[in-house]
Amino acid sequence: MTKITAAITAVGGYVPEYVLTNKILETMVDTTDEWITTRTGIKERRILKDHDKGTSYLAIQAAENLIQKHDVNPEEIDLVIMATATPDMPVASTGVYVASKIGAVNAFSFDLVAACSSFLYGMSTAARYIESGKYKKVLLLGADKMSSIIDYKDRTTCIIFGDGGGAVLFEPNEEGLGLKDEFLRSDGIGRNHLKIDAGGSLLPASHETVENKQHYVFQDGKTVFKFAVSNMADVCAKVMDRNNLVGDDVQWLVPHQANKRIIDAAANRMGLPEEKVMMNIHKYGNTTSATLPLCLVDYENQLKKGDNLVFAAFGGGFTWGAVYLKWAYNS
Ligand code: UT7
Repeated sequence: MTKITAAITAVGGYVPEYVLTNKILETMVDTTDEWITTRTGIKERRILKDHDKGTSYLAIQAAENLIQKHDVNPEEIDLVIMATATPDMPVASTGVYVASKIGAVNAFSFDLVAACSSFLYGMSTAARYIESGKYKKVLLLGADKMSSIIDYKDRTTCIIFGDGGGAVLFEPNEEGLGLKDEFLRSDGIGRNHLKIDAGGSLLPASHETVENKQHYVFQDGKTVFKFAVSNMADVCAKVMDRNNLVGDDVQWLVPHQANKRIIDAAANRMGLPEEKVMMNIHKYGNTTSATLPLCLVDYENQLKKGDNLVFAAFGGGFTWGAVYLKWAYNS
């Protein structure tokens, strides 16, 4: 029997119209375009200004872009996985709402929450459903309205994050294309270095938590940076080693867009020149669960069937990992 692998057969994305530039941030906090550019690689990010729209809006737009571009019938989708760190609500699943809104009426859905690695872990999860043989079309969405959890008076976080959404469709493949290997890790040591203190079961919302700004993201950037640089490069090297890949065999690194310096470190370790590294951090910043699919959207027309792609991410928790995937179509 031929082995079924899970191939990406369609991608879609969405970013809101409003552009928050480094120049505008200079008027909001004590920072400079020069500092942000040299320390992170970010020049601007997109912000969803509408207060009545949440992460589901970004995900719906991304999914509809995929459906339209690739002529997918939403009624044929079996499962919608919603990767996010900013669900619309703490309890009602965002993915379920999104699935109904896009007409995926025969699908079931759930949210997958693993900070900046949500989408990467989602790729692994989507692949298992496809490989089981029971599910033929799995829609993986990655979207975050990061602006809803950022303090725009805190210069250590507000310069980094942006809003956006991305979508990929996984389908069975019998030519050996699609997800080939993965190395996923997590370590609870990271819990205190990148977090939102309040609003969960440990510290429910109260007047005091709001006054103390405990519903915003806190990041000990230096520590996270150190872990991210070494761990993201390590998992990329691991996945390459055990699949006997050298730099020349890999056509693309698809890295989480948290900091250009972290991406450069991973690319160096893999022996990849800049032209093989997907990069859009300069225009979107860190969109958390949307970084990987938004890279695919931006580079879709350069991808060729059979290309070897290594995806990598690092995020809160800590969570991190790498996925090796063979691209399945020409645009
Ligand atoms: O995606 C999830 C995972 N997250 C990450 O991977 C992010 C990892 N961390 C980072 O990318 C970087 O640590 C940051 C971009 C967050 C910060 O860059 P850094 O080079 O690590 O800066 P730092 O925190 O060591 O701060 C250096 C200096 C400090 O001043 P002093 O103490 O040297 O006087 C900061 O107060 O830069 C100051 N600083 C700023 N200056 C201007 C911090 N933020 C800013 C700012 N503008 N926005």
